[in-house]
Amino acid sequence: MSSSSPNLAERYAFLQGELARLEHAYYVLDNPLLPDSEYDRLYREMLEIEAVHPEWVSPQSLSQRVGGVALKEFDTVVHVVPMLSLNNAFEDAELIAFDRRCREGLHVDHVTFAGELKFDGLAISLRYEDGVLVRAATRGDGASGEDVTANIKTIRAIPLQLLGKNIPKVLEVRGEVFMYLKDFEKMNQQAAALGEKEFANPRNAAAGSLRQLDSKITAKRPLSFFAYGLGALEPQSWLPSTHEQLLNAYVRLGLPVCPERRLLHSVAEILDFYNEIGAKRDSLPYDIDGVVYKVNSFAEQAKLGFVSRAPRFALAHKYPAQEALTTVLGIDVQVGRTGAITPVARLAPVEVGGVTVTNATLHNEDEVKRKDVRIGDTVSVRRAGDVIPEVVSVVKERRPVNAQQFVMPVRCPVCDSHIERLSDEAVARCSGGLFCAAQRKQALIHFAHRRAMDIEGLGEKIVDQLVDLNLVRTPADLYRLGFTALANLERMGDKSADNLMQAINQSRNTTLARFIFALGIRHVGETTAKDLANHYGSMHSLMDASLEDLLTVKDVGPVVADSITSFMQEAHNREVIEQLLFSGMQLSVEEKIFSAAVSGKTFVLTGTFPTMTRDEAKDLLEKAGAKVAGSVSKKTDFVVAGSDAGSKLIKAEELGVPIIDEAAMLELLS
Ligand code: IVH
Repeated sequence: MSSSSPNLAERYAFLQGELARLEHAYYVLDNPLLPDSEYDRLYREMLEIEAVHPEWVSPQSLSQRVGGVALKEFDTVVHVVPMLSLNNAFEDAELIAFDRRCREGLHVDHVTFAGELKFDGLAISLRYEDGVLVRAATRGDGASGEDVTANIKTIRAIPLQLLGKNIPKVLEVRGEVFMYLKDFEKMNQQAAALGEKEFANPRNAAAGSLRQLDSKITAKRPLSFFAYGLGALEPQSWLPSTHEQLLNAYVRLGLPVCPERRLLHSVAEILDFYNEIGAKRDSLPYDIDGVVYKVNSFAEQAKLGFVSRAPRFALAHKYPAQEALTTVLGIDVQVGRTGAITPVARLAPVEVGGVTVTNATLHNEDEVKRKDVRIGDTVSVRRAGDVIPEVVSVVKERRPVNAQQFVMPVRCPVCDSHIERLSDEAVARCSGGLFCAAQRKQALIHFAHRRAMDIEGLGEKIVDQLVDLNLVRTPADLYRLGFTALANLERMGDKSADNLMQAINQSRNTTLARFIFALGIRHVGETTAKDLANHYGSMHSLMDASLEDLLTVKDVGPVVADSITSFMQEAHNREVIEQLLFSGMQLSVEEKIFSAAVSGKTFVLTGTFPTMTRDEAKDLLEKAGAKVAGSVSKKTDFVVAGSDAGSKLIKAEELGVPIIDEAAMLELLS
């Protein structure tokens, strides 16, 4: 008999269930239930029990997620139900033809399609027997693939044990393994820091991670998964009648299913879906290369059948590629607001994802070296998310003999000051500070920004002229500009000069928080500026704050505190601040006018509002004590939706978060 009490077995079973529930909430529902530390505590407790009772450890124990012994090679898995591919379409006409073929094949007037995303990852088949994940296989040639079970078990979004009651005896879930863009970027940054190889894109990263023979390595890679299809199933009676119902059943079983999906009832709705998703493709948190339409009814799918290796009932509608090849004409450097010197590749113009790209960032000197980009090279350029186009990799086979290596200039191309690079930093900086016209321009543009001093009409073109003509050196100079100076600028009429004068004058009346933010102190963003304003209440108290004192401000850590004190110690900066204050700034500390209905509540804003911008709505809500978040989760109290609201609205509907319009929001505020 075992020496342990029956209670320990119970506790162990409880921990397994509880940890599975927490993982599901965190990785599938994106809605953490407990702080990480609490999860870690329970997890450690489970490990301690397993150390005493190794015989209790089952294949579905959550401790199996860390990976095991490395394999010599992957076993082959035969797919009982083959894994097929999809036919692709690029043109609207191909879609119209697809819809017609489906209708004609089924002898019906219209067909309902399930519209979903085409994820740019790797197809995988997960076999569950009695709800337990027993095998995972890659697609391979469609008829057989590789057994990657140990690797798949490390993916936290994939349940080792299905949830719920209605679990079929055998269920093969088909879906896509991929990497979220932010996880991919973080992983590459870490790899770069360690001098390891970076992946060209999230798809390669996902593929490379999944094909690791050592699952301990895979366990360190941030992979994720979405389910979208079905392989083997027993009993067949479990099958719902539509694809949509199948995916809903998956959600109930605890599987991750992408919320960006809906039923489409006509070609018009299909095209709307394609265009809507296309419009927000850049802001999705993962890469997609198209959308997929599948006949929703399984009975109809069966009737339509297959042609060679692709179903007749489904079609992938692709978007233009986000990566393209072009040549490097030259490598320049740009000077940023903080003096950061960024090498930029000048490119032969190329279409990437529907936009013509002529420049791509190379980030920093080390990056140029690591990727070994030379002038004359053929490179792959990528545009994804809201990010600036970047050079991904060089096609070495196409390197011309006279390709030229990049040499980091030793002097700033704008002000001729020395370029410095601290040994522990990746970026090189122009040491010219505000003496450097490029830095001055960026600092002024930031100062005038809508969310800083909000000087309407003071854009890049005007700032360029003001600085080049030496009319403005510091932000304080702006408040000494006369009408004639402005009216004499290029492309500036009397009317616009007058408007700009007014905008500059009006900007004196602002909040302390905006003023602090406008100064452009490194690491002091809008939120920190607000915290500092609330804490200090006046510019002079902030200017004289010690490092120790700054560290007592909410969310201010050593890096931020250090950046503030060095900024304030600089005589030049103090002088500019004094001049600004002397020019008649009226800096108010915003009294929060707490509104009981919204105070402490979390709002998410989406779409276009009828009477105000989202920024204005954000300010109103924050003044009333509400929080405004960027994405919808179960913790969101309200989603305020305007016209053309997208995925946030869908997510809110899915999670049952109350959705209100601008008028209802104003009502709550009043
Ligand atoms: S269904 C019978 N749905 O595209 C059709 N595939 O060319 C089986 N893919 O290998 C595939 N997103 O890797 C389907 N929502 C989606 C998809 C999807 C991405 C990939 C998958 C497959 C390839 C088919």
